[in-house]
Amino acid sequence: MKIPFSPPFINDSVVQEVLDSLNSGWITTGPKVSRLENRMAHWIDVEKALCLNSASAGMQLMLEWFGVGPGDEVIIPAYTYASTATAVLHCGAIPVMVDAEPNSFELSIKNVEKAIGPKTKAIIPVDIGGWPCDYDELFQLVNREDLRKLFTPQHLHQEKLGRILIMADAAHSIGSKYKGQAVGKLADLTIISLHAVKNITSAEGGVVLFNLPAPFQNEEEYRKNKIISQNGHSKNVHEKALNDGWRYDIIALGKKINMTDLGAAIALAQLDQWDEMQGRRIEIFHQYSHALKAIDGIRLPHFSDDVRQGNGHLFMIQLLNTSIEKRDQLISEMKDLGIALNVHFVSLPQFTYFQSLGYLPEDFPNAVQLSNSEISLPIYPQLTDEQVHFLLKSLNFVLSKLELG
Ligand SMILES: Cc1ncc(COP(=O)(O)O)c(C=O)c1O
Repeated sequence: MKIPFSPPFINDSVVQEVLDSLNSGWITTGPKVSRLENRMAHWIDVEKALCLNSASAGMQLMLEWFGVGPGDEVIIPAYTYASTATAVLHCGAIPVMVDAEPNSFELSIKNVEKAIGPKTKAIIPVDIGGWPCDYDELFQLVNREDLRKLFTPQHLHQEKLGRILIMADAAHSIGSKYKGQAVGKLADLTIISLHAVKNITSAEGGVVLFNLPAPFQNEEEYRKNKIISQNGHSKNVHEKALNDGWRYDIIALGKKINMTDLGAAIALAQLDQWDEMQGRRIEIFHQYSHALKAIDGIRLPHFSDDVRQGNGHLFMIQLLNTSIEKRDQLISEMKDLGIALNVHFVSLPQFTYFQSLGYLPEDFPNAVQLSNSEISLPIYPQLTDEQVHFLLKSLNFVLSKLELG
């Protein structure tokens, strides 16, 4: 039996919605992207959502919007995907990486606090695997009188906010909740990914959710960034085609990072099926948790607690008291049985590029330990009961063979 890691969810409704766009004669940014933006904003209950071609592009766009540049620092976890850091580097600023707590994938607020200095302009918390960070604690921190005084604004938007920006990397956490509120309502800005492996996809895609406090006008900041995302055009191409012909102006230094209607069509059709898709994903999450809870030597992921609810994006297991060699052997033996596992994540200081910038694994021992002992199981709505049983049987077999459980 073959079990791929994370194939996209494509059923007849998705195909029909994409076909509808193909047949409409309009395939790039247009009515479906607008529909997706309105739907996302309404669902999450924020004023505005901006659809782009990736979360990576969204993070960079919004850091630039906040005026982050050379000489500035942005705090990020060492335990994340590369683009949390590269978004900062592309602005010319310095990512200040913080280590995790021992045996916890969550952002360490204690370590964030230690990293804050006069050059800190933003913090990017990452909801790893769909599990939300402790946003209340983060806001308490950035609103602390001494840290507000330490904040040195050098840009209009920084002056307007008057404190460190919280920009959530919610690439994994669409639909997750914290204290009853959806991810997207929790930070000043939230960036969701709609990449092919995410709970909802547009093939490639990202959504910026605007939740800036007064005196910001989220509508206005959305509009300015939408223009930048389409090469600085005064009108988007769809408006141009519909309305008054060819004439346009370039009114800002733009980028080309817009989402296509073809991509938005996939996401819209999937959103229509959110309850069913999530229902099955979460059922599998509970099946895994139930079947694996008695195994010593592994730590299972959370799904919910008093204040948080995840979205089952990943099923991240930590193998306790083991070595990277044994973890890799487990992945390889499962592959021989037809099952693709994955690792989330190799921590950033373990990569050649980040080492060339001076980030060293020995300075982030907890993140490295997590990276070397993590495995992610396949989890997606199309998995059948038969596949889930086969996967669990195989995992139990390999864990005992390698004396890991
Ligand atoms: C934590 C995290 N941040 C950001 C991204 C980037 O998302 P995208 O591929 O939409 O740019 C990813 C991608 O998977 C991710 O895992």
